[in-house]
Amino acid sequence: TYVVTENCIKCKYMDCVEVCPVDCFYEGENMLVIHPDECIDCGVCEPECPAEAIKPDTEPSLEQWLSLNAEYSKTWPNITVKRDPPADHKEWDGKPGKLQQFSP
Ligand code: SF4
Ligand code: F3S
Repeated sequence: TYVVTENCIKCKYMDCVEVCPVDCFYEGENMLVIHPDECIDCGVCEPECPAEAIKPDTEPSLEQWLSLNAEYSKTWPNITVKRDPPADHKEWDGKPGKLQQFSP
């Protein structure tokens, strides 16, 4: 599966949702997640994310993000259409420690 990671938080570009062939993105207040059981590992979303927040779970040290994606994709609503990102999304791009900003 592919995993949405820290740099999505407060950037939330949503370009990813437009390309997913199985519509497996789910939306929280300031981040999206991928449902790990629905993702078919096609990889097309990875290069679409301007924040480079989407990674294959074969990369090291993604366990915490994989659990977060698995947990919240169960309850957050599905999203398939991009909207405008948050007004201050550029200020947050690349900032460290964004997990503290995560809103479930
Ligand atoms: Fe969707 Fe493919 Fe990305 Fe998985 S890898 S979330 S199936 S676009
Ligand atoms: Fe997040 Fe990137 Fe999608 S910032 S909303 S994973 S395009």
